[in-house]
Amino acid sequence: MPTSAPHRVPSPESRIPVLTIDGPSGSGKGTVARLVAAELGWHLLDSGVLYRAVGLLALERDIAMTDIQALADLARDLPIRFEPTADGVSVRLEGRIRDHDLRTEEAGTTASQVAAIPEVRDALLDRQRAFAQAPGLVADGRDMGTVVFPHAAYKVFLTASVQERAQRRHKQLMAKGVVTILSGLLEEIRERDARDSARAVAPLKAADDAVCIDSTALPVEQVVAIVLERVRQRG
Ligand code: DC
Repeated sequence: MPTSAPHRVPSPESRIPVLTIDGPSGSGKGTVARLVAAELGWHLLDSGVLYRAVGLLALERDIAMTDIQALADLARDLPIRFEPTADGVSVRLEGRIRDHDLRTEEAGTTASQVAAIPEVRDALLDRQRAFAQAPGLVADGRDMGTVVFPHAAYKVFLTASVQERAQRRHKQLMAKGVVTILSGLLEEIRERDARDSARAVAPLKAADDAVCIDSTALPVEQVVAIVLERVRQRG
């Protein structure tokens, strides 16, 4: 039986300032989280990478999406390490840098499937909470403000229209030389949103005390400025 998150129990992160940034795929939360963390000098948790790593290794080890026990064991003992680099963080899986493989659409889709399994989510909870270290943490994902860090001092929910998110992803992929069809991406993003929002455990939704920002018509610098202002205003 998976244990549920200790919403009422004071958790370790309550002593460390935590800023949670949740939102759907392509809302820009990853970029905003990275820039805000750099500006504040705080640690960064990209929680999606953990689900991507479980998905990628499950594919490579031929673990079926129905083998809950094997997936939960993999999540609990995930052989992952984060290494600071000049422009962010690199991810090592089983000792190998796998940044590119973790960012593919296939890894994203598999991540979304393993993320719907309560036992996998439960197995990743402690690892995520361990990122809350002084002087502070910026954590981005889907359930950072609702489940993982319910006591976070600052919570943001970042959205953008599905068309805008598909266009941003299309532009990113084209810049990398990956040819994709916009309508296909739109469909994939819709499907992923539906799966992430409809799942029974830790669905994608804004925490009651989160500030909602719609980034459809806002440049990333402006979103970063709004978030930083919120944090600095509240001290
Ligand atoms: O943010 P991302 O695209 O890297 O996330 C990949 C998938 O992982 C996404 O479809 C939903 C899931 N995810 C989640 O369920 N909870 C999180 N905290 C982060 C990601």
